[in-house]
Amino acid sequence: MTRLLKGRIALLATSNVHKFNEARRILSEHGIATAMLKNIRAVEIQDDDIENIAKARAMNAFEKCRLPIVVEDAGLFIRKLANFPGPYSSYVYRTIGNDGLLKLMENVPDRRACFRSVVAFLSPMIHTPICFNGEVEGRITEEKLGQQGFGFDPIFEPSHSSKTYGQMTVEEKNQLSHRASSFRGFAKFYKG
Ligand code: IMP
Repeated sequence: MTRLLKGRIALLATSNVHKFNEARRILSEHGIATAMLKNIRAVEIQDDDIENIAKARAMNAFEKCRLPIVVEDAGLFIRKLANFPGPYSSYVYRTIGNDGLLKLMENVPDRRACFRSVVAFLSPMIHTPICFNGEVEGRITEEKLGQQGFGFDPIFEPSHSSKTYGQMTVEEKNQLSHRASSFRGFAKFYKG
């Protein structure tokens, strides 16, 4: 099974359809089809490092399905808030959301932030997950802009862009995003 899938089909454990769509398009550029395994609810540990979170989720997902598996974890790191929410992005989005973050950033002139993504891959052929990182610098906008995408997309404007992720199509976001970069790294490895 592992040999059959290698380089051709990636099994992505996620229930986030936006993430899946972004990843699917990137991987298809490399001739890799993506299947969404949405019922593997990989347990998310708490850790200060999103790479450790991604690795632990890959191991947990692998234990459940025993198939070559891909997971991805991302976080928004705001410089003036000591990199908050970072590894707690999911909790912060569910609780205070974009409005809460904008409130915390009220009257803060330094709006620099970055988005990080870690893709972790684990298969029966390897013993520890292999990780691929992607990072994009940008800024937190003063207000929510755009209806596209998900999560913090409407408040994050990548450097050298006049649009937030929320104002971009998936194709535009995939030209420069943190996730596009980590999945491109994975694609090269998976094809090779
Ligand atoms: P996770 O990788 O799904 O754990 O993401 C953590 C949090 O960051 C979630 O609340 C997501 O909505 C948010 N998030 C992850 N990736 C993105 C992105 O590309 N754009 C906007 N928000 C994101």
